[in-house]
Amino acid sequence: MEFEKNLTVPYLKLRYFAFNCFEIKFPGGKTLVIDPCLNKEGRFSCGYDVNDLEGCDVVYVNHSHGDHVDSLGKVYDRFHPLVMANAVTAYDLCVQYDVPFIQMLPYVSGDTFDFGDFKLDILHARHALNNLRRPSGKEDPFDNVFFKPGMKGPTYATELEEKLGNMGTLYNNNFVLSTPQNIQIGFFAGNPGLTAPEDRNMWKNIHPDIIFAHRAKYTVDYANMMADVLELTGARIMVPMHIEDAYSGQYDPAEYTANINKVCAERGLVGRAMFLERGQWYQFTSGVNKL
Ligand SMILES: [Fe+2]
Repeated sequence: MEFEKNLTVPYLKLRYFAFNCFEIKFPGGKTLVIDPCLNKEGRFSCGYDVNDLEGCDVVYVNHSHGDHVDSLGKVYDRFHPLVMANAVTAYDLCVQYDVPFIQMLPYVSGDTFDFGDFKLDILHARHALNNLRRPSGKEDPFDNVFFKPGMKGPTYATELEEKLGNMGTLYNNNFVLSTPQNIQIGFFAGNPGLTAPEDRNMWKNIHPDIIFAHRAKYTVDYANMMADVLELTGARIMVPMHIEDAYSGQYDPAEYTANINKVCAERGLVGRAMFLERGQWYQFTSGVNKL
């Protein structure tokens, strides 16, 4: 009698590009693109563009800032996907990126969308705290954490761009993605380390297999903050995202995840973190190995 030594079950493939932009391929054939920002060169450049995408049935927009939505028009031109965005920003995104209104699925927190190959449960979220600028632009002593006196806020080419910029700070949504194969992916963009009580208290009841988590800056206690996310959610795999600072050479990604994983080991956690190389496909699997 002969028994097999191991079993590997592939369940989804994904690629990371820039900021929070992912391309996820499901076993049923559908493709989800998150936060389309794909510029080969120039503004927000990452060395890849929309022509590098292999497919796109649905686009998910976390918020309406340029680094999350800059390529929406080009992605729509190429694939004619459904586009999901917060209901408050949906109309303006259609106008700015020339997406037909009928192709937009506006969402609010608490909505569920079941596409068959995957289901999205929409969660409340906030933008990462990096901007205390007042609408008037007046100097404010409480703003000294992020902006030095006299520093200007972002500049926009049009009124609509400015509105989408401000709306992007106001309206952010994360999600939990589930597949018919019982896989759950949590998408957490916002204040790194789940430091806000409303984030922490919501996510502690969600137990995804994989969590895409906004990276904590390398200048703070990132190893403990990122380990907190794995501990709180019980996720087994963490993929840090919005890692432009790693690509600009500010820290070594392997050292960053090694330090997170060291803390995870010290805490006795099962979960571990891994950076994904831009543009590279990764296969996620479940498996059994004979010992
Ligand atoms: Fe961003």
